[in-house]
Amino acid sequence: MKIFLDTADLSIIKHYADWGIVDGVTTNPSLVAKEGVDFETRVKEICEVIPGPVSAEVLSTEKDDMIAEARKIAKWAPNVYVKLPMTPDGLRALHVIAQEGIKTNVTLIFSPAQAVLAAKAGATLVSPFIGRLDDIGQDGMEIIDDIVSIFTTYAFETEVLAASIRTSQHVLTAMRLGADIATIPPKLLDQLAAHPLTDKGLAAFLADWEKAQQK
Ligand code: G3P
Repeated sequence: MKIFLDTADLSIIKHYADWGIVDGVTTNPSLVAKEGVDFETRVKEICEVIPGPVSAEVLSTEKDDMIAEARKIAKWAPNVYVKLPMTPDGLRALHVIAQEGIKTNVTLIFSPAQAVLAAKAGATLVSPFIGRLDDIGQDGMEIIDDIVSIFTTYAFETEVLAASIRTSQHVLTAMRLGADIATIPPKLLDQLAAHPLTDKGLAAFLADWEKAQQK
């Protein structure tokens, strides 16, 4: 299973890059806006640090504009994946750019039906949003389960990217259900890496070693 970082913060991406576990990065307009930087420059910088897929989202909402913007974004770096929203215009644009070999990530997916349509139109990745479904009282994990199972049944090549992940449990459940990728807010990586018994055990090892040296 691949792990992506869900951020546009370059220093944070650099901080985690040498852990050897970051397979890619996802950004969205909200994450880039928070950074207050030029979109193209930042995406290029991220693409240099992380060789895996880096998602950059179009801001247009009409098919022809989306296509033009997608073609432009796709030229920014060889590892850019163009993110398109799951709308009818998004599907129309996807259908065109997928045939041109542009890698895509269809975002804002909230149902298995949306994921299937995106896959059929040629999406490289689909991004079901778990946390935002939980927020409205639905079990976000259910759609991961359904999408993975439908994609397996029909042998879709499209990968399932679990997005809007908020907790360690989301990450583990996504892994258990067979999602291909989980995109994770950076602070969750620290939580995933840590365990109080690891810290306690290490402190005890070092203290015992120190004691033995003094004898
Ligand atoms: O990158 C898209 C997604 O992961 C956003 O997550 O927490 O804003 O719902 P969130």
